[in-house]
Amino acid sequence: MPQPVAVARDEPLRATTTLYTCDPNDPDMMNEPFDAIAGLLATAGARDYLGEPITVLEHLLQAGAQAEAAAAPAAVVAAALLHDVGHLLEADGSAGLSGAGLMAGHDNDHGQRGAAWLASWFGPPVTEPVRLHIAAKRYLCATEPSYYGLLSEASRYTLAVQGGPMTAQEARAFEELPAHRDAIAVRRWDDQAKDPAARVPGLEHYRPLLTALAVTGGTGGEVQTPRGGTGGEVQIQGITAPCD
Ligand SMILES: [Fe+2]
Repeated sequence: MPQPVAVARDEPLRATTTLYTCDPNDPDMMNEPFDAIAGLLATAGARDYLGEPITVLEHLLQAGAQAEAAAAPAAVVAAALLHDVGHLLEADGSAGLSGAGLMAGHDNDHGQRGAAWLASWFGPPVTEPVRLHIAAKRYLCATEPSYYGLLSEASRYTLAVQGGPMTAQEARAFEELPAHRDAIAVRRWDDQAKDPAARVPGLEHYRPLLTALAVTGGTGGEVQTPRGGTGGEVQIQGITAPCD
């Protein structure tokens, strides 16, 4: 078993005020977020099992399908689908195998790493549940007596790496975070998304959802395409983002 290590108390990602600027009439810009995600999920790390009976990619697709079946908001479906992308990233954001580091007992920040990478295209409604899904596990271990028993063997193993159950003070602080309920929801789908027999949609199923979320900065707002050709503005829940 790994020894518990100090858990980074990172500040929440700053609220995104600079949204992903795009031209909805430019196919390359529209495809960029999905293509980047698909590229990362095609790397070797996505075929890793990390101690579970299914691969990282299968696990993420199952989590996304469960969120969608629960009629979760689009941003929360995306968060469930993408919650473990940090396993596939090195500290500098390049593709890597950080999940191997986690299983070796010396990596505890794949939530933060994944959220930072996703913040290139998505806002806090997507990135915060991703960032907090490990904290949600520590929270549930502290507040729900039966929760620990629901965890897979690998997830119990990594709990120690991730800091163990929260203290009462940490749990109260977690409850103050605006995204804590969404993070808990993602965590529960995460825990249930480990069925080798499950049949769920592939990644392409989520292209429209992810593309729309990226265009709206992950807010889930309505997209209004600019008037007349390229350039112009995208209207996002009362915010006007230049589209240059
Ligand atoms: Fe997961």
